[in-house]
Amino acid sequence: YRIDKGNHRHFMGKEIHEQPEVVGRTLSHYVDLAEGRVVLPEALPFDFGKLNRLYITACGTAYYAGLVARYWFEQIARLPVEIDVASEARYREAPLERDGLTLVISQSGETADTLASLRYAKSQGQHTLCVVNVPTSTIARESSVVMPTLAGPEIGVASTKAFACQLTVLLCLAIAAGRARGTLTAERERALIDALITVPGLMAEALKQEGEIEGLAREVARARDVLYLGRGTSYPMALEGALKLKEISYIHAEGYAAGELKHGPIALIDESVPVIVIAPHDGVFEKTVSNMQEVAARGGRIILIGDAKGAAEHGLDTLATLTMPDLDATVAPLVYALPIQLIAYHTAVFMGKDVDQPRNLAKSVTVE
Ligand code: G6P
Repeated sequence: YRIDKGNHRHFMGKEIHEQPEVVGRTLSHYVDLAEGRVVLPEALPFDFGKLNRLYITACGTAYYAGLVARYWFEQIARLPVEIDVASEARYREAPLERDGLTLVISQSGETADTLASLRYAKSQGQHTLCVVNVPTSTIARESSVVMPTLAGPEIGVASTKAFACQLTVLLCLAIAAGRARGTLTAERERALIDALITVPGLMAEALKQEGEIEGLAREVARARDVLYLGRGTSYPMALEGALKLKEISYIHAEGYAAGELKHGPIALIDESVPVIVIAPHDGVFEKTVSNMQEVAARGGRIILIGDAKGAAEHGLDTLATLTMPDLDATVAPLVYALPIQLIAYHTAVFMGKDVDQPRNLAKSVTVE
């Protein structure tokens, strides 16, 4: 790897643009393209078919990748998932079953709380599997199975390409689990693989919205608060969107499950609060539309990240619509991550912030 910014002003910008390539590389490590099957790079010392439950733990952006994966493991593999941030998981003294599985996710492989949760899981007799970007890291060394993300070195403090690669590996794992548990038909597996294979191309498509996002960033930069809404896998994406914006622009942002809007945050909505709605045309799209109508009725300015099908059907009145390519909704988080990252990036750049080294944050948090 050349560790320079290439033609980009910041590492973060470069890393956002690298995603089609690094996700493609990660995919080729986990998918046998000729067979159209997931083939894990390492044999597993446990059987997904025999697990009662999967425990996931991580911090920050890696935790949000885990939250997305919860939907995948539950829907594709019918495997119940328990997930918590590592700084809680390590102290909760949760009873974990012997021979169960704890999955930890970490870019650096050195995050102190994640490492402590991993050690706790081992002390309970759990198998441990890590999804990690640095294969020589402590977390990789101490886990019984290592599933690498092939994102290459990530320099920008705000994680972007590592997140996309984490999602890629996690979806492959959910597919492998689905096969082992007999919950995935060969036909659905094939369709999921086909969808996964198209992701790098779809990401390149999504990046074409950058010009529009740059314009929109000027709007976002004026806000004091920004709300992100989503349902299903778009809910953790809303959390990730809000985290990205906070981290590098220092604008207050909150991610909310769209259905929870009426239980509090709707009180915040007026013309001054941009509401970024993440809504691919999936099984819960209609529900999210009614939440958007609630926002619009209160003068809220909606920035919709959706697809042409969704927007056309509903003629929604939005401040802006970022049109993502049509896709199998299961892979939407991978593609929708890009506009989410670009909104935060361009807002922070426009505001003159140090996007690669935001104040008070560290790339790798080895303190507790
Ligand atoms: C820090 C970084 C985040 C990252 C988190 C977890 O807070 O600023 O971008 O998501 O740590 O890091 P890890 O290396 O464990 O993924």
